[in-house]
Amino acid sequence: MNKKHLDDLITYLKFPSVSTDSRYKADVRECAEWLKTKIIDVGLKASIHETSGHPIVIGRNIHKEGLPTVMIYGHYDVQPADPIDLWNSPPFEPLIEGDKIFARGSTDNKGQNLAHLLGLGEAINEDGELPVNIIFLVEGEEEIGSPNLEPFLKENKDELECDVIAVSDTGMIGPGIGTFTYGLRGVACMEVKVIGPSRDLHSGVFGGSVANPCSAISKLISSLHKLDGSVNVEGFYDKVKDIEDWEKQAWSNIQVDPNETLLLTGSTELFGESGFTDFERRWSRPTAEVNGIGGGYQGEGSKTVIPSESFVKLSFRLVPDQDPDEILNLVKAHLDKVTPDGVRIECEFGHSGKSYLMDPKSDYGLAAQKALKETFNCDPALIREGGSIPIVQTFKDVLNVDTLLLGLALPDCQIHSPNENYSIDNFYDGIRLNRNLIKQIGGLN
Ligand code: BES
Ligand code: MN
Repeated sequence: MNKKHLDDLITYLKFPSVSTDSRYKADVRECAEWLKTKIIDVGLKASIHETSGHPIVIGRNIHKEGLPTVMIYGHYDVQPADPIDLWNSPPFEPLIEGDKIFARGSTDNKGQNLAHLLGLGEAINEDGELPVNIIFLVEGEEEIGSPNLEPFLKENKDELECDVIAVSDTGMIGPGIGTFTYGLRGVACMEVKVIGPSRDLHSGVFGGSVANPCSAISKLISSLHKLDGSVNVEGFYDKVKDIEDWEKQAWSNIQVDPNETLLLTGSTELFGESGFTDFERRWSRPTAEVNGIGGGYQGEGSKTVIPSESFVKLSFRLVPDQDPDEILNLVKAHLDKVTPDGVRIECEFGHSGKSYLMDPKSDYGLAAQKALKETFNCDPALIREGGSIPIVQTFKDVLNVDTLLLGLALPDCQIHSPNENYSIDNFYDGIRLNRNLIKQIGGLN
């Protein structure tokens, strides 16, 4: 194990590159600049590309005709660290404890992505050159829905032409079990505002005569699900692709502690659409989630008001072949229909991204699985993921290439939560995985 690699990871994790919060804009840029120097350091050419938001960093080797071109994609931006009080150590002062390094972005996505870069560096060092053409592309806006990457891909389509893309930004079934992800859920977000009286009212003087926006919003929210856990929006399931028999079989063979989800989430009971297993629900069934809700008096003690407004932030996880815009419009139509008398609603659509599904038996899919087998010495698990990386389907649409998802995130890595952590074993395994991957893909030629 090369200690210098771990030092690089620590340096990378110290940048608070929070993309959603403008107070960190300068930190995001400094992080991009550091990454550029690191890319040069490992032996690639590097450039920074401005966007109307945060910059994109790209590394390349010298292009050789006849070799396959692999794009490695990742993101250097991170989620906000809040709630800060719940961290056991400061989120941007990486702490090593046992086999784990604790910091915001350690798994999502700096640790996973840096492993690829350092793997390229090792290969260049030892072999003098790489067996493939490399485009190492790292963006700073993944956690806010990659608003500038799609236009960048379209504008630079020729320069970014490649045969396949590799991404480590998904999960692993368990420690030491190489995991090939061939599908991702999509996502569509929306905020609904319920508007009632023109100002907060005395609930004694007016209560009983006018509609209450907080009561109304709870009706809207509860109308989204049926009692069996399915989504109650007309047309919502129309385009949902059935789970294939081989997938059901493969997923039911995955050996995990039957209580794993309860342990990981701290919930007391599983709840979801009836008729599906936990994996099926998370990987291949769509959902409607309430991400946040507000309105009315939130302070100490009671305040007897009828609030003038309330709001809810909703997101929908989508599966093939649902279309995010179509789903948002179906939901809006549903909400319009069930809005109680006496209030009106305003729906604002947020960011969204399509789901992704590839054939794991394609040549590149099989090459990736061989690399996983070589790295972890066991047959890789074949899974889909519940999380979303919207740009992956955009890669398919714009560049017409598949993305190999080679996750290095462990189930207990706490991404987006306090105490996010990354397994140091996975960091070093990731470096070896990269080397095996480019060897396998180079060998396809
Ligand atoms: N790396 C995650 C997505 C992920 C997590 C995929 C775990 C598979 C397993 C990514 O950074 C992420 O959080 N994406 C957002 C997308 C959204 C902001 C558009 C998500 O899934 O909520
Ligand atoms: Mn990520």
